[in-house]
Amino acid sequence: MQKLAETRYPIHELLRERWSPRAFADRMVEPEKLRSLLEAARWAPSSFNEQPWSFIVATKEHPGEYERLLSCLVEGNIRWAQHAPVLMLSVARLAFERNQKPNRHAFHDVGLAAENLVIQATALGLAVHQMAGFHVDKARELFSIPDGHEPVAALVLGFPGDPAGLPEDLREREVAPRIRKPLESFVFSGQWGQPSPLVHGKAR
Ligand SMILES: Cc1cc2nc3c(=O)[nH]c(=O)nc-3n(C[C@H](O)[C@H](O)[C@H](O)COP(=O)(O)O)c2cc1C
Repeated sequence: MQKLAETRYPIHELLRERWSPRAFADRMVEPEKLRSLLEAARWAPSSFNEQPWSFIVATKEHPGEYERLLSCLVEGNIRWAQHAPVLMLSVARLAFERNQKPNRHAFHDVGLAAENLVIQATALGLAVHQMAGFHVDKARELFSIPDGHEPVAALVLGFPGDPAGLPEDLREREVAPRIRKPLESFVFSGQWGQPSPLVHGKAR
């Protein structure tokens, strides 16, 4: 199933195609594809080239590890995520390695790495659904995540599946249109809150 973004201005096809499904096919993801996703994450930009990201990866080929990561998700996410073949958890290192000073952009940079991973996944015909809905302290404990590191987001990934297999409430959300705020509401010029003429009014 596709849910192409309806854009006002043209964007790259991969960005139009990316979305966050809950239906995943019962099909494993080849390790070389997973390696490509992680390689894409590796080449994300980061403040001072700190690369503050780590990813914990669990696939259904290793049921113990998979169940452990799955158990960190909130119930509402486990419902659908349990059918996907791969789970990941992104983790940020909060201080710079070189001087131990706080890295104010650690989460930002982990997000950049995650988006690289997601777009690479889209290019390979895979889908990724990121989640804030997980138990941070449980993940910290179950995976021995060291001090100075913060779990950021859980990721579910696999090949897209058939929405018909979802429970009804989730199926409705699966087929609902994707919505976004208009550009005028977040692109400003001159001062905060003043929509930029670049995206406002007749300048189309
Ligand atoms: C950091 C982050 C956390 C999210 N947390 C959840 C979540 O816990 N459960 C969920 O179903 N979707 C979650 N989402 C998915 C968003 O709801 C989704 O990206 C948004 O509605 C836009 O839809 P789209 O990705 O299909 O364009 C999360 C997305 C991100 C980036």
